[in-house]
Amino acid sequence: MEKEEDHAAITTAAALLREGGTVAFPTETVYGLGADARNTMAVEAVFAAKGRPSDNPLIVHIADQKVLDELVDEIHPTAAALMEAFWPGPLTLVLPVRTGVLSPRVTAGLDTVGVRIPDHPVALSLLREAGCPVAAPSANRSGRPSPTLASHVMEDLNGFIDAVVDGGAAGVGLESTVVQVLPDGTVAVLRPGGITAEQLAAVAGAGAVDTAPAHAAETAASPAASAAGSPAGDSAGEDTGPAPRAPGMKYTHYAPRGWLGVVRGSSPQAVAKTAAELLQAAQRDGGITGLLLFEEHAALYPASPAACVVSLGSIHSPEEGARSLYAALRRFDEAGATYILAEACPETGLGAAIMNRLMKAAGGTVIAAR
Ligand code: TXA
Ligand code: MG
Repeated sequence: MEKEEDHAAITTAAALLREGGTVAFPTETVYGLGADARNTMAVEAVFAAKGRPSDNPLIVHIADQKVLDELVDEIHPTAAALMEAFWPGPLTLVLPVRTGVLSPRVTAGLDTVGVRIPDHPVALSLLREAGCPVAAPSANRSGRPSPTLASHVMEDLNGFIDAVVDGGAAGVGLESTVVQVLPDGTVAVLRPGGITAEQLAAVAGAGAVDTAPAHAAETAASPAASAAGSPAGDSAGEDTGPAPRAPGMKYTHYAPRGWLGVVRGSSPQAVAKTAAELLQAAQRDGGITGLLLFEEHAALYPASPAACVVSLGSIHSPEEGARSLYAALRRFDEAGATYILAEACPETGLGAAIMNRLMKAAGGTVIAAR
C-alpha cells in the first residue's frame, strides 16, 4: 500500500470511530477491534461482533499518557514506573477508573480499567486522529485464536464490523501482559504476554512480581469435560476456582476447532515418542492429525508424523514461537485437523505466555510423556 493510501485509510477509520463505528486495527501484539470507549452503543457493537461474554472487560487504548489523568483516579508509583519503562508497548495496567468518563460496558461494571499505549505507528495515528480513548479487545470471534493478520480478522468478523485497517503482520503475536499494582507495590500478573515477568522484575524489584494470579486463572480454565478429551470448543469454561482478577482468563480461549493436547516430558525424545504413538493411533481411528513442534525436534519424529505439521521455530527463540502461534492454530483449522498435539516449551521469558496460551487452547489438557 502507498503511504497516502495508508493515511487515507487511517483518516476514514478515525472518522468511523468518532461516529460510533467498530474498526479493526493492527497493534504490536495482535489486531484489536476498536470502538469509542465513551460510547456505550459502539462498545456494545464490539461485544456483539465478537460474541464476547458481557462480564469480560475491554482494554482501553490511548496514544498519549496525558489522557490517562482524565480516565483514572490514582496511579501507584510502581505503576507509573512500569508505564515509564514499557509504554508505548505490550503492557496493560489495571487502574482505578474515574466514574462517568468511560462507558460502564468497557469495565463490565468493575471499579478498575485496563489501559495501554500500543507501540504501533498505525494504531498510534488512528488513536490520535480519532481523538477518543478506544476500547479494543482482540479482533477475533470469542474463543478463536487472536488475529495476527488483517486476513484473520476478515475470516472471523467480515460483515460484523465497519472496517479493518491493514497494517501487515502484528509484531509480538501474543497479547499484552495485564498487570495490577496492589497497594503494597506487588505487581500481580493477571495475564502473561509481551512484557515478560523478568522485564517487570527489572523495574519493580525481583520479589515484587507475582505471577500466581495468571496461573490461578489457568487452572480455573480447565473444566473437567475438556480434561476428559472432549473438544475444546468455542464455549466458555465455567469458573470453578478462586475468582481470577482478569475476568477474561476464565474462558476457554484461543482454541482451534479440533481437539488439542499439550505434551510434556523429561526429554524432547520422550515427548516425540509419546506424541508420535498417539498421533498414529488417532490416524488409525480416522482422525485428521496435527502436530505443533519446535524445529530442533522435527528429526525425532518418524517421517510424516501427522497430516498437518507446523513448526513454531527454534525452541531457543520464544519470540519466533509467539509470532507464529496463532497463525499455526488457524492452519490446523484450515487442514480440518480433529486431533492435535503440541509440544510444551520452557516457561521462561516469552515462553511463559506461549505456554499460557497453549494451555488455554488445550482447555488445560496435558499429556505426560512416558
Ligand atoms: O494485546 C492486547 O492486549 C490486545 C490488543 C488489541 O491491545 N487486546 C486484548 O484484549 O487482548 P482482550 O479483550 O482480548 O483481553 C483483555 C484482557 C482480558 O483477559 C480481560 O479480562 C482483562 O484483559 N481485563 C481488562 N480489563 C480488566 C480489568 N479492569 N481488570 C482485570 N482484567 C481486565
Ligand atoms: Mg482476546
